[in-house]
Amino acid sequence: MFGLETKAQEWHRDLTTLCAFFLSSAVFRRCGLAILKRSLHIALAVLLIFSYSTTAQQQTQDVPSAKTIIAHRGASAYAPENTLPAFRLAFEMGADFIEYDVQVTKDKQLVILHDQTLERTTNVEEIFPARSRIAAGDKSEKKHWYVYDFTLAEIKKLDAGSWAGAKFRGTSVPTFRETLDFARGRAGHLIELKVPDEYNARGVDMERLTLAELKRYYRATPKSQKGSPIIIQSFSARSLQKIAAELKSPLPLHLLTTADDKPGWLTREGLAKVKSFCVGISPHRESVIRNPDIITWAHELGLQVTPYTFTTIKSQEPQLLRAEMLRFLYTLKADGVITDNPDLAVEARTKSVSVFIAPSPSSR
Ligand code: G3P
Ligand code: CA
Repeated sequence: MFGLETKAQEWHRDLTTLCAFFLSSAVFRRCGLAILKRSLHIALAVLLIFSYSTTAQQQTQDVPSAKTIIAHRGASAYAPENTLPAFRLAFEMGADFIEYDVQVTKDKQLVILHDQTLERTTNVEEIFPARSRIAAGDKSEKKHWYVYDFTLAEIKKLDAGSWAGAKFRGTSVPTFRETLDFARGRAGHLIELKVPDEYNARGVDMERLTLAELKRYYRATPKSQKGSPIIIQSFSARSLQKIAAELKSPLPLHLLTTADDKPGWLTREGLAKVKSFCVGISPHRESVIRNPDIITWAHELGLQVTPYTFTTIKSQEPQLLRAEMLRFLYTLKADGVITDNPDLAVEARTKSVSVFIAPSPSSR
């Protein structure tokens, strides 16, 4: 999907050229026999070593296609979701991208949090006991602590780590800016805009705020895209269309689709519409299980496919999850997987080298 570089092949080609040049050069011809023999031995040994490593790389290239591993809310099976420790662990485990969710605070700052409410993943009840409320139209009549009722300074007082284990105590809710800077050069960003339609309805232009922050990020580090490509995704097609058509952003966009695929994007016709404003889709894995043709149809249109969410959190056994990701990536030919367990996805990808080294090259 996002390409594997064959550095070993480049090195091998360069070294071979260098040796060939040296062996045939006038300088070399003037040397004595002893130097000639020794040089030939050294050159041969170096070439053998590089040929061996290149063969290993070549085999990796024989795998049907490069696959992208996206750490969902960071390595969230092992660290508190959407926090810097979860992102750091994802980098360490070899994830290519981190996925995370953007919300907007009362003072219009972008923060990384999945829920619109703070109580599941922070100690907000303890720090701000009197700040919960029942949202207008909420039939459950339950009180919640809403992100958009709190300023960034208030949210920064919260502990977003303890709920996932004592060792994460003191972890804060990161801002979008902190996250962009933290992952620079270490992984790509799959940025999910959460409920942009609701924010828009409250007069908050979440898309514009996000693009402005990205502009600052690119200006600060013009080369940052190299190590950290950016993709924006959302369940809201309207929001993505706004980013593409109204805000004229050239950034790649992915449409997220729900398990029941409402309003029905995952047909040939639906996907053709998606293609007009997106470069990819992130379907729920159950949609793909129900109809694996989705991936073929999307590929025929040139759309990338990165299904979600592969996880051990809902008690899936690690080895079963690894096997499932292997199947999605290499049998169903998804371009990547969005997973809480990037380590298992990396293992699946590594395992695929032995499973899929086959003489017949595949188109994908
Ligand atoms: O990236 C896919 C996934 O993040 C969408 O669902 O609820 O985990 O944000 P959710
Ligand atoms: Ca998400």
